[in-house]
Amino acid sequence: MCGIVAYFGMKSAQPILIEGLKRLEYRGYDSAGIALLNQNNLEITKSEGRIDKLAEILGKARREQTVGIGHTRWATHGAPNTLNAHPHLDHSGKIAVVHNGIIENYSTLKTWLMGEGFQFQSETDTEVAANLIGYFYAQACDEEQDRPSNGRNPFEWAVQQALQKLHGTFGFAILCSDYPNMLIGAKKGSPLILGVGSDEFILASDAAAIVEHTTQAIYMSDNEMVCITPEGFQTKTIDNVAISKKLKEIEFSLEQIELGGFEHHMLKEIFEQPQTLKMCMQGRIDRHEHCIKLGGLTHILRELTRTRKFLFTACGTAFHACLVGEFLMEHLARIPTEAEYASEFRYRNPIIEDRETVVAISQSGETLDTLSAIEEAKRRGANVLGIVNSVGSSIARTTDAGVYLHVGPEIGVASTKAFTGQVTVLTMLAIELGRRRHISSDLADYYVDELTKIPDKIETILASSQHIKSIAQANIDQDNWLFLGRGFNYPVALEGALKLKEISYIHAEGLPAAEMKHGPIALIADNMPAVFIATEGPQYDKIMGNIEEVRARGGRTIVVATEGDTAIERHADHLITIPDAPEILQPLLTVIPLQLLAYHAAVLRGHDVDKPRNLAKSVTVE
Ligand code: G6P
Repeated sequence: MCGIVAYFGMKSAQPILIEGLKRLEYRGYDSAGIALLNQNNLEITKSEGRIDKLAEILGKARREQTVGIGHTRWATHGAPNTLNAHPHLDHSGKIAVVHNGIIENYSTLKTWLMGEGFQFQSETDTEVAANLIGYFYAQACDEEQDRPSNGRNPFEWAVQQALQKLHGTFGFAILCSDYPNMLIGAKKGSPLILGVGSDEFILASDAAAIVEHTTQAIYMSDNEMVCITPEGFQTKTIDNVAISKKLKEIEFSLEQIELGGFEHHMLKEIFEQPQTLKMCMQGRIDRHEHCIKLGGLTHILRELTRTRKFLFTACGTAFHACLVGEFLMEHLARIPTEAEYASEFRYRNPIIEDRETVVAISQSGETLDTLSAIEEAKRRGANVLGIVNSVGSSIARTTDAGVYLHVGPEIGVASTKAFTGQVTVLTMLAIELGRRRHISSDLADYYVDELTKIPDKIETILASSQHIKSIAQANIDQDNWLFLGRGFNYPVALEGALKLKEISYIHAEGLPAAEMKHGPIALIADNMPAVFIATEGPQYDKIMGNIEEVRARGGRTIVVATEGDTAIERHADHLITIPDAPEILQPLLTVIPLQLLAYHAAVLRGHDVDKPRNLAKSVTVE
C-alpha cells in the first residue's frame, strides 16, 4: 500500500526518485508524485496513473536539486487523482510530506485544524499530517522569535510533536523548505529502510528502491525517526531519545528484481521456481544425520515437538499455504493444526492454551492483518513463529523465531514463488516434526528424497507453458470458472481460483470437489470451464465421479492429471499432465499449471499482469 522513497546526497534527485518509485510500483500504482528541494524552494510534480506518466510530465529537463521525496499511491482516503496524490503540503507550503499507512484519527485532527483556520485541498489523511506538522512548526518558529536559541531545531521538534498525536500507521519522508539541508523519516507500522551510501542516503519503503545505490541499510523500528543532514544521520525515538542502530547488509541483488528477458515479473517468478525451491532447501537437508535443519528453529525444536496445537495464520495466497500446512502437519506429525485468516483471528476471541504455537506466514512480512494477528496472539501468551520471505521485515522482527523462505524478492503482485517456498518450508518442518513424533525415519528419508526431486519436476511442467496457453486461449471467452480439488489439492484449487481472479478479472471459485454437489453445481452451464486437480492418490476415483457430474451438465473439463494416466484422457476436454509425486508433495506441482493458466489468460485478455487493478502487493492497511 503505497511506496515512498527519498533521496539526500550529491546527485540529481529526480532520476533516482523516479527509478526508486518504479521499483516500488508494485506497492500501489494509481497516482504518483515527487517534491524536490533547493534553496528554500519546493518544486512539486504529481500525476494520476503510473510512474511513467509522472516521468513524462517531468520531461527530460535535468533538475539539479539533490534532495527530494517521492510517492506511489494505492488510494485509501480519497479518489486516485492528482489532487489526492502525494507529496502533500501544509497550508504554509513549507512542509512537504509523503506517507505510507493510515492515520486513523485524521478526521478528528482535521476538524480541529479547520477550527484553527487551516484549509485543505485534498481528501487525504496525509494532508492532515502535513498540516499538523505545519501547525507545530509555526508555533516553534514563533517561540524561537520570542526566545531565540533554546537549542532545538523547530522542524524536527514540530515533526516529533505531530507524530506523537497521530494514531494509526505511517512511514513518512518529510521536507521543510526552511531547512534545505535536512530530510526527516519516521516509522510506525509501515516499513521504512534507510540506505546509507558513501555520500548519499536513500530512505524507502523497500530495499528494492535502495539496492542500486548501496547495500548498507538501517531497518527502522516502530516509533523511530531519522534526521538526515550533510553531517550524517541521527536516529531517535519520536519522543526525542537518541538511539543507535546497526548497519545491515541488504541481502538481494539488482538482478533479482529485474525482468531478465521475461515479459512480466510474474512469468519470471513462475519460471524461477525450480531454482528458488533449491535455494529454499539449500543447507537445510542433512542427509548424513538424517534430519532437516531449519536454522531459525533449532533452539526450539524440542519445544515444537511437544506442541499441542498449531495455528497457522496469514492472508491471501499465504493463507492457502497455511491450509496445505494444516494437511501436512496433521498427516505427518499428527499435531492438531488449524489455519485461519489473520483478519478473522485478530477480531474474534481466540483461545490460546499452553503449548500451542501460532505460525504467521507472509511473503512481504508487512501485511497489517497478519502483523495484528501476531500481536493478538502474543498478548494471549502464544509463542509466535514466522515463515517470511522479506529479510528484516516487520513480521520477521516481531515473531519469536522463524524461517526465511530464501526465494528472492517477489515483485509480481500475484504471489507464485513465495507460495511454493512457503509450502516447501512447511513440508520440511512437518517432515522433521513427523520424524521426531510419528513417522519412521525411512519414510521421512523417502519424503526428503522426493522433495529434492520437486525442482526438476517443476521444470518439466514449465515446458508445457505453450500447451497451457492454448487451453487458456480456448476458454478465454468464459467469464465464470470453477477450480476443484480434494485433500492436499483442495487448497491448490483455492489458489488457482485466486490467481485467475487477481490478474485476469475472471470470476472463479475454488472448492473442495465434493462440495460442488451442495450448491455450486447449479452454476454449471454450457462450456463453463471446471479445472480439476485429479492426480493419483486416495481420492482419485471420487474426483473422477465429480468430473463426470460436470460433463453431464455441459461443463468443459480442464484436468490436471498424473503423467501416464491414459484412463483420464476421455474425461478431459483439456488435459495437463504433471510428473508423479507422493500425495503430500503434490501441491508443489499441481499449483504450477494453475499459475501458468492464470498468467496466460490475463495476458490474452490484455491485462497488466504485474499490476492488476485495485490490488497491491503488500497490504499495510486493514
Ligand atoms: C496481498 C497480495 C497477495 C498476498 C497477500 C498476503 O493481498 O496481493 O498476493 O498473498 O497480500 O501477503 P503477504 O505478503 O503477507 O504474503
